[in-house]
This record gives sequence, structure tokens and C-alpha cells, in this order.
Amino acid sequence: MDRLVIEGGVALRGEARVSGSKNAALPILIATLLTDEDCILDNVPARLRDIRLTCRLLEALGKRVEAAGTRVVVRSDKPLKTRAPYDLVKQMRASVLVAGPLLARFGWVRVPIPGGCAIGMRPIDIHLKGFADLGARRTLDQGDIILDSPLRPGSVRFKFPSVGATENLMLAAAALPGLTVIRNAAREPEIEDLAAFLDSMGARVSGAGTPVVKVRGSQRLKGARHRVMADRIEAGTLMLAAAATGGDLMVSGVRPAHVRALTLKMRRAGAVVKESAAGLRVSMRGRPRPVSVATAPYPGFPTDLQAPWMAWMCLARGRSRVLENVFEKRFLHAAELARMGARIALLGRRAEIEGVERLSGAPVMASDLRGGAALLVAALAARGRTELARVYHVDRGYERVESKLRGVGARVRRVGR
Ligand code: EPZ
Repeated sequence: MDRLVIEGGVALRGEARVSGSKNAALPILIATLLTDEDCILDNVPARLRDIRLTCRLLEALGKRVEAAGTRVVVRSDKPLKTRAPYDLVKQMRASVLVAGPLLARFGWVRVPIPGGCAIGMRPIDIHLKGFADLGARRTLDQGDIILDSPLRPGSVRFKFPSVGATENLMLAAAALPGLTVIRNAAREPEIEDLAAFLDSMGARVSGAGTPVVKVRGSQRLKGARHRVMADRIEAGTLMLAAAATGGDLMVSGVRPAHVRALTLKMRRAGAVVKESAAGLRVSMRGRPRPVSVATAPYPGFPTDLQAPWMAWMCLARGRSRVLENVFEKRFLHAAELARMGARIALLGRRAEIEGVERLSGAPVMASDLRGGAALLVAALAARGRTELARVYHVDRGYERVESKLRGVGARVRRVGR
């Protein structure tokens, strides 16, 4: 299995361009199930494992998918199936998003319940309550949820602004003629990107990016073209890697507003972050001031950047805290960071980090996607060599990570296989 070998201590300099967003591309790919016409998607991070799995899932359901570079064309030449195969769903939780469009279009769908994962239980009760509010009946068979009875447009209120549930209900509502209102919806930028795609397919979506999303659906949506937004989490990870290495890096392609919660915290910690139409330029000298963060749904501090943030705070001149409010156990990286000299105490959802003057390279293991990214940030800043194992976790969310980092001066190579 692949490992990354990182010789740390090199300041990142130059320009790194962020890829298309994985978490925006996934629901948009799934939205192609809403039409029988062809769809053309650009800026798709098509090399990522989760994107390839989604393409396979679409094929298993009857679509034809052609990927070339960052363009993915989804064609329809046969009737769709309404049963998602377990071997794909178990590998990627976002597969559960096929429930919305298939149920709304065909009145019946069978989807395996995705199991827990390294960062928490991750139930789908909010999705299911939303479908029930629109009229779905559900039964459970062999670990699969079967949803049936025709959905009708209506009103849904979430107990928590779940990103996935908001997307699933928007996908369903887009195929239902009439008005569906989703209250306490997630406000993440990826929701707005999905709304833009649904709009160009012929649904009418308003309020995306606010807590109340309104969707006026249609039984016949058309094929559409769309350019996927830039990946704000990849951008944030690069910003933190630049600061942790004392570098000066232009992170281009991302909308600065999408990473503002991070930018504000980084400035408080002493980094210089300049926003422009082209992206963000980050520079940093020396160790950061300790700054605490608490994760929250957008526009709060993103849970997906909590781990890379912690890696930077390991080097702070003092003690800081991280409070993880979104997932119940997203601190698997802490013990690995400790192998590199970090001093972190965990108390439930809270981590206390006592900054050290430097981290030192060590063999470490990624346990999940963003935890792996945290180890990468730490390794780039550390003195000496780090070998990062289970890099497949990192490959789920960062495209060609080693060549991107090498392009801005890092000494990183991939070995193995
Ligand atoms: C999305 O996951 C992202 N994934 C995650 O990115 C991200 O961490 C998360 O949103 C939060 O921003 C994709 O977009 C594919 P949620 P999602 O539903 O939709 C609980 C990454 O690293 N919950 O907002 O699964 C849930 O357990 C990933 O790229 C319920 O209790 O997130 C969690 O604690 C990982 N019941 C919290 O809500 C439900 O029915 C947030 O989950 C749904 C969620």
C-alpha cells in the first residue's frame, strides 16, 4: 500500500491551484439521476476515489459515465434501476443521496444503510424523517431501507442542519411538481452549488445558503452543464500547510468568502492572509499565537479543517483548545500527532493542545481523510522525515497531493505498491 515520505521543514512558496470540490461534485453527479438527458460537468476532481465510486454507482444504476480530465459526461441510454448495491454504498456514505432522486421519480427505492465510520456513528435519521414528512413509508430488510409510496411536495424542518439531508431532500424536491420548503437547512456553499445545478436542470430553487431552502420541482428535468465550485477544504488545508511551514503561498481558484471562518482565526494566530479575486495569499513567520476553535455548521469553523488546524496549533506559543461540535469522535489524529512530539489531551469532544517548539518526523498512520491531512501538515512543518501510511484516506479528498505540494517546494514522494 502507498505511503508518503515527507522531508519536513521546507517553507511552502509559490502558487497552488485548488481542485474542484469533492463534496460539491458528489451530490451534483447524483443529481444527474433526475434526468434522462445528458449532463456535462466540469472541474470535477475525477481522480478522487469517492468521485470514481460515485461514477460506478451511477453506472450500476443504469447511467453511462465518461470521464476525461476534469470533465465528466453522464449519459442515459437505458432505464434506471432503483436499488443501490451494498458493495458501493458501504465504501462511501454519500451514496445514500441516490435515495432522494430515485424515490421522487419512481416512488420506490432500496438503499443499504451506510454503516458507521471512523469519525462517528453518522446516522441518516434526519434524511428519513424528511422523506416521511413528504409521504414516504419505510421498511427495513436485510440492512437495506426500502422507501415507497409516491412523495408529494411539502414542508420539512430538520432538527439539525445536516448537509447530506439537505441535499437529499433538495434532490427529491427537484423532481416533485409543486413547492417544497426545507427549514433549518444546511447553509454550506456546496448546497448553493447543487442549487445552481438543479436550477439549470429546470427546477426552481431559492434560499440556498440560508436556513430556508425552497424548491419548486418538475417531473421532467432536462440535461445541463455545470462547473463545480472550488474545494474550500483543500484550500484551507493548503493555507494551514503554508502557515505551519512559515511559508508564503498563493492559494488560487477558491472564493475567499468560503474560507472566511478559517481566515479570521489564522489572522488572530499571526498569519497574514490577503484575499483577492484570484484566491488567498497566506504568509507566516515563526510560531503561531494559541487560538481556540469550536467547529460548527457553515458559516462556522468547518469540522473538516479541525484536524489540520490542530496540527498547526501543536506549534503554538501556548495552550489552545479545539471543540468538535459536529462529529462525536473526530480526534483520531491526536494520538498520531503525539508520535511527532505534539502534546494533546482529549476530554470527550474537547482537545487541549499545549504548543511545542517543534515537531519531529515519525512513521505515522492516517485514520481518516482529514486526520490524514493533519498529519501531512504536521509532517511538512516537522524536522526530519515522516512516513505517512494509509495514504488512501488522504487520496479520498486531495487530488495528486504530492505533486501539488512538490510544486510549491515541499519534499514529498509516494512509495509503495
Ligand atoms: C458532509 O457530510 C461532508 N460530506 C463531510 O465531509 C462534512 O464533514 C460534513 O458534511 C459536515 O460539514 C460530504 O459532503 C460528502 P452531516 P454529511 O449530515 O452530509 C449528524 C470530508 O472529510 N447527522 O451534516 O454526512 C452526523 O452524524 C467529509 O470530506 C445525524 O445525526 O454531514 C454528524 O454528527 C467527512 N443524522 C452531523 O449530523 C442524520 O440523518 C453532521 O452530519 C444526518 C447527520
